[in-house]
Amino acid sequence: MSFKSKLAGCGAYLPERVITNHELSETLDTSDEWIQQRTGISERRIAAKNELTSDLAVKAARAALKHGGVLASEIDLIVLATATPDKTFPATATKVQADLGITRGAAFDIQAVCTGFIYALNVADNFIRVGQSNNALVIGAETISRILDWEDRRTSVLFGDGAGAVVLRSVPEAEFGGILSTQIRSDGRYQNLLHVDGGPSSTMTVGHLRMEGKEVFRHAVTNMSSVLEDILKENELEPNDLDWLVPHQANRRILERTAKKIGLSTEKVVVTLDRHANTSAASIPLALTEAVGDGRIKAGDLLALEAMGGGFTWGASLVRW
Ligand code: UT7
Repeated sequence: MSFKSKLAGCGAYLPERVITNHELSETLDTSDEWIQQRTGISERRIAAKNELTSDLAVKAARAALKHGGVLASEIDLIVLATATPDKTFPATATKVQADLGITRGAAFDIQAVCTGFIYALNVADNFIRVGQSNNALVIGAETISRILDWEDRRTSVLFGDGAGAVVLRSVPEAEFGGILSTQIRSDGRYQNLLHVDGGPSSTMTVGHLRMEGKEVFRHAVTNMSSVLEDILKENELEPNDLDWLVPHQANRRILERTAKKIGLSTEKVVVTLDRHANTSAASIPLALTEAVGDGRIKAGDLLALEAMGGGFTWGASLVRW
């Protein structure tokens, strides 16, 4: 029998501490007006000093398990996407596994920066499709605030911390819905346009996030619209067949231009970046959880998830909720 993955539940967690644009402008040469106009961001959440990526991930995972009616003991795979792991090793996923009381199956991290959630979803879906996993947790979790250069106004105003998770259940291929398909891509020639200038092997420091914003912006619109067009074509679907686009949240102008480029109404785009800013691998499950929670996304809706990030990496996934 062949299998596929159904999204059984989703959940999210945001740290309590809110930092508004106004607050940033007290210590940085920036303004609420500039940030809102150029990005669409009003505020972001920042993890407390003693709050680690794994702590955010566990809270999101628990919420997703509860929402999906799945027990932690049923989980046999945890794939966690993060660019800000608790430690260089072991994988943050193993800490999450232990905190959830899971002692079977496998847990590992995926590193594809802002595209991490799409990559993780693809990996977990493939495990389910080949019959190696029955119930998987896919998590995007970040404490990106820890790798920001808080004196660099070009990057520090753009990001926030948070976590989101989904539970995948193995179902027979013939069943309606679930993950229809995923496409992931990378092109390492562009890694210096968005990178961290540190790491255990290169500098033995953690380093700070560096970005050539304008260049990244241009590639983001081109790459995300092209992978969306490809995945719709692969599934013989038109943009108008989509009920919702749940994109990685980097910049409101990127979201609008990408939607416009593929011919999708911006009313179908789920936007959370005004309150979350760019939470890297966490942004898609955070947005998904919000739109499912407030009733916008309903059973049977066709969703496209898409992201682009450092590497460059990018990708999209089509899901029937
Ligand atoms: O998640 C991974 C993917 N990441 C992204 O997709 C981010 C993509 N890039 C962007 O979102 C945008 O390029 C930014 C929001 C980062 C920048 O917007 P921009 O319209 O491309 O502005 P810019 O970098 O061209 O800067 C315009 C001006 C510059 O001043 P001068 O040189 O014209 O005098 C910057 O120094 O705005 C200045 N500036 C700021 N001013 C106030 C840059 N950052 C700020 C700031 N506050 N925070």
